[in-house]
Amino acid sequence: MSRSCRLHLPLLSRGSAFALLCLLLRTLEVDALNLTLNNSHNATCLRAQWQMNFTIEYETLNHGLKNVTIQVPSNASYSGSDCGTNDNISQIKVQFGSGFFWTVNFIRENSAYFIDVISFSYDTSDNNAFPDAKEKGKVSTTFEVNTIGVPLDEFFRCRSVMTVTERNVTHNYWDILVQAFIQNNTISTKEYLCDEDESIVSTTAVTTMPVPTAKPIPKERPYPGTYSVTSGGAVCLLATMGLQLNITKDEVTSLLNINPNTTDCHGECHKESATLRLNDSSNEYLEFLFAVKNGNRFYLKGVNVSLTFVNGSDFVAANNNLNCWDAPIGSSYMCNKEDTIAVSDTFQINTFDLRVQPFNVVEGKYSTAQECFADSDLNFLIPIAVGVALGFLIILVFISYIIGRKKSHTGYQSV
Ligand SMILES: *[C@@H]1O[C@H](CO)[C@@H](O)[C@H](O)[C@H]1NC(C)=O
Ligand SMILES: *[C@@H]1O[C@H](CO)[C@@H](O)[C@H](O)[C@H]1NC(C)=O
Ligand SMILES: *[C@@H]1O[C@H](CO)[C@@H](O)[C@H](O)[C@H]1NC(C)=O
Ligand SMILES: *[C@@H]1O[C@H](CO)[C@@H](O)[C@H](O)[C@H]1NC(C)=O
Ligand SMILES: *[C@@H]1O[C@H](CO)[C@@H](O)[C@H](O)[C@H]1NC(C)=O
Ligand SMILES: *[C@@H]1O[C@H](CO)[C@@H](O)[C@H](O)[C@H]1NC(C)=O
Ligand SMILES: *[C@@H]1O[C@H](CO)[C@@H](O)[C@H](O)[C@H]1NC(C)=O
Ligand SMILES: *[C@@H]1O[C@H](CO)[C@@H](O)[C@H](O)[C@H]1NC(C)=O
Ligand SMILES: *[C@@H]1O[C@H](CO)[C@@H](O)[C@H](O)[C@H]1NC(C)=O
Ligand SMILES: *[C@@H]1O[C@H](CO)[C@@H](O)[C@H](O)[C@H]1NC(C)=O
Ligand SMILES: *[C@@H]1O[C@H](CO)[C@@H](O)[C@H](O)[C@H]1NC(C)=O
Ligand SMILES: *[C@@H]1O[C@H](CO)[C@@H](O)[C@H](O)[C@H]1NC(C)=O
Repeated sequence: MSRSCRLHLPLLSRGSAFALLCLLLRTLEVDALNLTLNNSHNATCLRAQWQMNFTIEYETLNHGLKNVTIQVPSNASYSGSDCGTNDNISQIKVQFGSGFFWTVNFIRENSAYFIDVISFSYDTSDNNAFPDAKEKGKVSTTFEVNTIGVPLDEFFRCRSVMTVTERNVTHNYWDILVQAFIQNNTISTKEYLCDEDESIVSTTAVTTMPVPTAKPIPKERPYPGTYSVTSGGAVCLLATMGLQLNITKDEVTSLLNINPNTTDCHGECHKESATLRLNDSSNEYLEFLFAVKNGNRFYLKGVNVSLTFVNGSDFVAANNNLNCWDAPIGSSYMCNKEDTIAVSDTFQINTFDLRVQPFNVVEGKYSTAQECFADSDLNFLIPIAVGVALGFLIILVFISYIIGRKKSHTGYQSV
């Protein structure tokens, strides 16, 4: 059904520079394909802008071979595009019209990434696109590109038209700007030009398009997730929380919100201890360890974290001597306001809308809550207490002044 070949992109002849310029002017009117992808941590991992069209040769019933050119409409769908789960393969999927599918894979190898494989499929039973088609059905083509290696942290740019013919389809790609495997949510400002553009830049001045500036990772309130652990078919641990990780690595602090929609959990419940382990599709995890103290209270005793996202290297932190989220067994601990768990010098967890019950969950529901101090109305009493204390102090000073005066007065009298 499909055959693979290596794409050797032809160099444009110098003489076509003028034609190219005209082409650029003309194509400015056409909507570019435009896509930005985020990873599970909401950090941008890929951005792409490009134009493409396809000329497809097919056999008609009565008029022999015919060529149709397919333009990508502006309402094409990119669903299914993603940065992959293992950080080394990303894919863009474009779907449009009735039955056109286009995909490109990017692979990462050491310090470079490659545009790997392009696939294109169409359906000749679409009478609008392929009038009079003799054979009706799906046709798929695939070819390998991976001769273009772009250094990580650079974006690939090609304004020139790249043309490749694979079976009955002639692919045209132009005005390409793509960066895959974006590191640290930082969009690169370094461009890696295709050979075709290099030769044009040296002959005609081409104005550079503005490059979007890098966005810092946002500090939004994390979306709360509800996690539960079951034992013997019954829920034995419940936790609802929005989690924001504050990681300091190489003197740079980054905030990472846990997306509950892409996070799994599991754990264990024992009589005197319980664990809740959150993980995503990479091998990253965040583990909470609960313990019992004095036989009647529970607390968060430990946190373990292992992340791989920072520059592809590992980040780990652990602390088994915490004393947070303290509440009586048989109740739950609740803290709606932002609270912080300092796990280590380089790692802290900011919690939001927290409610947790690691022991004695009945019928899968939280028991009565013990609220954290930050939430409690007792907060109001602080200024009052301070005021009262100050008042006392003033009265005390006043009394001692009176007594002092009286004493010195009597002392004076006796002399
Ligand atoms: C592509 O989308 C981004 C953000 O959605 C926007 O800033 C940029 O101008 C768009 N580019 C084009 C060529 O439409
Ligand atoms: C991707 O993340 C950025 C912040 O890094 C955010 O502004 C943008 O809306 C996100 N896009 C999607 C589709 O979630
Ligand atoms: C398809 O793209 C090529 C290259 O940009 C261009 O020369 C051609 O005119 C386009 N075809 C149509 C029908 O727009
Ligand atoms: C592809 O083109 C050839 C002629 O070059 C034609 O015979 C064949 O039917 C075409 N295939 C499809 C699937 O349209
Ligand atoms: C269709 O386009 C291809 C590539 O441009 C060309 O080689 C072929 O002769 C064309 N076929 C017809 C029937 O015009
Ligand atoms: C895209 O637009 C075309 C008309 O330009 C329309 O026929 C088609 O239904 C639209 N597709 C989607 C998915 O909105
Ligand atoms: C991704 O690529 C890097 C560098 O080539 C390699 O060290 C790492 O093991 C790869 N990861 C996976 C999950 O394949
Ligand atoms: C993140 O941690 C650093 C160092 O511990 C601290 O200075 C900073 O205020 C924290 N930021 C947030 C938003 O928690
Ligand atoms: C990514 O962030 C780390 C620290 O978090 C920094 O040392 C490194 O230089 C950054 N890399 C890039 C490409 O910005
Ligand atoms: C998680 O999914 C829900 C429902 O599908 C959606 O409303 C919410 O915005 C998603 N949250 C995030 C952080 O993507
Ligand atoms: C990602 O960003 C979008 C837009 O800013 C926001 O709606 C969404 O909740 C964020 N998701 C996470 C996991 O932070
Ligand atoms: C979490 O890890 C388990 C295996 O331990 C795995 O089956 C699951 O898919 C992971 N969760 C996600 C969201 O990938």
